[in-house]
Amino acid sequence: MRRISFLICVAALFCALPAQADDAVLARVASPDGQLLVSVQADAEGRLAYRVERRGRPLVAPSRLGLLLANAHQLDGGFTVASQKTSEHDDTWEQPWGENRFVRNHYRELSLDLVQAAQGGRHMGLRFRVFDDGLGFRYELPVQAQLPLARITDELTEFSIVEPATAWWTAAGERPVLEMPVQRTPLAEVGLANTPLTMRTQSGVHLALHEAALVNYASMWVRKVHGQTLRAQLAPSATGPAVERRGAFATPWRTLTVADSAGGLYESNLMLNLNEPNQLGDVAWVKPGKFVGVWWEMHLQHSTWAGGPSHGATTANARRYIDFAAKNGFRGVLVEGWNIGWDGDWVGSHSAFDYLQAMPDFDLAGVASYANSRGVKLIGHHETGGNVARYERQMDAAYGMYEKLGIDTVKSGYVTDAGTAQFADPDGIGTHFGFTESQEGVDHFLRAVKAAARHHIAIDTHEPVKDTGLRRTYPNWVSREGARGQEYNAWGHPINSVDHEANLVFTRMLSGPFDFTPGVLSLEGSGGRTINSTQAKQLALYVVLYSPVAMAADLIENYERWPAAFQFIKDVPTDWAVTKVVNGEVGEYATLARKDRGGEDWYLGAITDGQARQLAVPLAFLTSGRSYRAEIYRDGDAADYRTAHRFDIVIEQRIVQSTDTLTLHLAPGGGEAIRFTPL
Ligand code: NOJ
Repeated sequence: MRRISFLICVAALFCALPAQADDAVLARVASPDGQLLVSVQADAEGRLAYRVERRGRPLVAPSRLGLLLANAHQLDGGFTVASQKTSEHDDTWEQPWGENRFVRNHYRELSLDLVQAAQGGRHMGLRFRVFDDGLGFRYELPVQAQLPLARITDELTEFSIVEPATAWWTAAGERPVLEMPVQRTPLAEVGLANTPLTMRTQSGVHLALHEAALVNYASMWVRKVHGQTLRAQLAPSATGPAVERRGAFATPWRTLTVADSAGGLYESNLMLNLNEPNQLGDVAWVKPGKFVGVWWEMHLQHSTWAGGPSHGATTANARRYIDFAAKNGFRGVLVEGWNIGWDGDWVGSHSAFDYLQAMPDFDLAGVASYANSRGVKLIGHHETGGNVARYERQMDAAYGMYEKLGIDTVKSGYVTDAGTAQFADPDGIGTHFGFTESQEGVDHFLRAVKAAARHHIAIDTHEPVKDTGLRRTYPNWVSREGARGQEYNAWGHPINSVDHEANLVFTRMLSGPFDFTPGVLSLEGSGGRTINSTQAKQLALYVVLYSPVAMAADLIENYERWPAAFQFIKDVPTDWAVTKVVNGEVGEYATLARKDRGGEDWYLGAITDGQARQLAVPLAFLTSGRSYRAEIYRDGDAADYRTAHRFDIVIEQRIVQSTDTLTLHLAPGGGEAIRFTPL
C-alpha cells in the first residue's frame, strides 16, 4: 500500500512538472543565433503548449495555447499535427520616418497546421517567429466549413515565466484607459494589466510582453492566473463575444521581447517587424516636425476650449502662435477648441461636435491660409468626447475639408466620461458604450487612420488604443498618447511622479511614439503645482521620449523668458537615422543617443528619477576621427526638482571625439540634453 501511494506521488510529481520529454514535443524552432529555442508540445489530450529556453536554460515554462469559442467546440485540445514547416527570413527595410532609418528583419519561422479530428477535422494554424531578441506567435484560422464564423470569448494563451521576476505594468480595464500610473510589483502580484508589461528576472533577463499588429481583433490584457503565469484576457465587447471573425483570419502576434538589459528591450525592432509592410505607398506627405499651439494655456485654465470672453482658439491668438512658430522654425501650430461643440458638457453622449464648423471668433480658412503664407502648417484637432458614432458620420468630410485647407496632420481625442466610448449599434440607429480596446474600438481607430490617409493626413491619436507597431503598415499613424502625458502636470491628482518618464522609457515607449508634450520650461501647472522635473530634464525628454510630431508645450511667454534653454527645443529634430540606448534601468534612469535623419548631428538625452546620478557616457556612437562641438544643457550644481533650484541649468560647449567619455551629473529629478555637431 505504501509502495502504491509512493508511485502515485511520483506520477503526480511528473504530471505537475513542466513536460520535458521529447515525445510530447511537436516541433521546435530556434532563433537565428541559436540562443532562443521555442518548443511546441501537446499533452495526452492533445492540449497545446509552448515553452522557451534561452542559452539552454528554461525561460518560459510550458504555457497553454488555445482559443475559447462561443459558437462551437473550444479550440483547446484534441490537436494533432497535419503538417509543419520551418523557414528563415532575413532582409532590411527602410522606414519613411522613425527612430532608425533601416530595420533588419531576421527570424526563423515555424508554421504548424493542427487538426482536431474529433471536431470534423477542423484546422487551426500556429505560426512562431523567433528572432535573436524575442519571439512572436499567432493563431491562424483557415476558411473551413467546420467554422465559418469564429465567435471568440477569450484566449487560453499563457506566459509562464520561470525565474522570479519584477514587473512594471499599468492596470487594465480602468479609467482613464491606459493612463494609470506605472506600478512595480513582483510578477506574481500582477493584477489585470495592459501590455507592454515589462519584467526583469532575478538573474537580469529583461522581458516585455506585448502584441503586434492589432487589427480587427480585441486588445489583449493579461492577468495572473497562478504563480508567475499570466494569461491573455481579451478586452470585452459590449455586444457579444470579444471577437467575431468570418472566414480566414490571423490573430495579432503575441510577443515576448527578451534582452540582457532594459536598453536591449528598447532597441528591439521585433514589434515593427511583425507588422505588415507599408500599405499606403509613397508617404512623402507624412511630415515629422515640432509644433506649438493653443493648448497648455487651456490646461492651465488661462483660457477655455469653450467660447466666450476667455476662448483660446480665436483668430488673433492663433495668428500669435503662427508668428511665433514662423520666427522659431516650428512646422506646426495646433489650435484646440476651434470648432462648434465645446460649450457645455462635451463628453460622451452629450458631445455635439461639428468638425466642419468653426466658432464665430475663429476664421479657420483665414488662419490656415495665414499659416501657409508663413511657411507653417495648422494642425487640425478633432476631439470626439468618445462619441465614436458621431465622429464616424463626419470624419471623412472633416478630413476632406482639412486637406483642402492644406492641413496635413490632425490630433484626435477620445476623452470619455464612463471610461468607455460610444459606438453605433449594428442597426445604425442607436448607440452603445464599449471599451476603446474592444474589437469595435480597434476597428474604429484604424478606419479613421485609413480615411485620413485617403486625404493625405497624418493622425496623432489621444486616448487611443495601444500602439502595436501599425505605423509600419500605416505610416500616417504618426503618434498617439496612451499613457499619462504632461497634461497631468497641469491638473492631475496626483501629477506625474518624478520617476514617471524613466518608467515610460522601458514600458509604454516599447510600443511606439508618444505625444507626451514636453518642454514646459516654467515647470508650473495650475493651482500651484510644480512639475517633478528640472528644466534640463524638460529638454532631455525631446530625445528620450520619441515622437515624430513633438510639441513645445509651454506658453510663448515662457519660451521668451528662457531663450537660452529654448534654443535646444528649436534645434532638436524629430526624425532619426539611428537610435542607441546608452544606458538605463527601468524606472530609474535612461540615456539615449540619436542621429538626425536630416544631417550629421547627434543628440543625447539623459533623465533620472528622484535620485541624483553620475553617468559615464562613452561617445563611441560618434563617427571616429571626427571632432564635434557638444552644446551641453545640464543641471546646475544646485539643481533639484524639489526646490526653486529646479531652474538651475548650465549651458556650455566642449569639443569632443568618439574616444571621449562624458560624465553626466544628473540632479534629483534632473536630466541633460546635448547636441553634437561635427566641426
Ligand atoms: C485630452 C488630450 O490628451 C489633450 O491633449 C486635449 O487637450 C484634451 N483631451 C482636449 O481635447
